[in-house]
Amino acid sequence: MENVMHKDIEKVLFSAEQLHEITERIGEQVSFDYQGKNLLLVSVLKGSVVFMADLMRAIKIPCRIDFMSVSSYGAGTKTSGVVKITKDLDINLEGYDLLIVEDILDSGMTLHYIIEMLKARHPASVRICTLFDKPERRVAEVHADYVGAQVPDAFIVGYGLDYDQRYRNLPFVGVLKPEVYGG
Ligand code: IMP
Ligand code: MG
Repeated sequence: MENVMHKDIEKVLFSAEQLHEITERIGEQVSFDYQGKNLLLVSVLKGSVVFMADLMRAIKIPCRIDFMSVSSYGAGTKTSGVVKITKDLDINLEGYDLLIVEDILDSGMTLHYIIEMLKARHPASVRICTLFDKPERRVAEVHADYVGAQVPDAFIVGYGLDYDQRYRNLPFVGVLKPEVYGG
């Protein structure tokens, strides 16, 4: 049957094939950079779950994974500035080389908060890997070490990214029609 979510998409920005190429490229780079290290991938739920699942399989060295969940967005498309931990990590970070895996770096407020909190737990190192970067919207100073692609200042969905918890299951990434969120 046809994908009924397609009608809400204005424009496809990254096809499933392009997303595959991006994750393979980052996986290759991470594999090279973390040789002999104690790599722990930390996925920030829920937006990064699809990227995480693909990225970990593109990594060719041993690693561990863990998940944490924070909420900084309500049902809208703009950050509230409030970051709340709703699920913490299971693993004690001491001695691990942490790679935080995010879906999108927007204002940076979410990541800024997460980085400070995780650094206080004495990991061996902390780096950031984000699938998408929206540099125009940056408020907090955050530098991503691995970036899949830069995106324009538009609200995008798919491949884990949601609007009001939907569209995460689209296999591609597209711009949502503004009428869907009343823009
Ligand atoms: P920040 O704190 O503003 O950097 O917010 C980052 C979080 O906002 C991401 O992890 C996403 O969950 C969400 N977000 C930011 N921009 C978009 C978008 O265009 N589509 C879907 N979610 C987004
Ligand atoms: Mg998110």
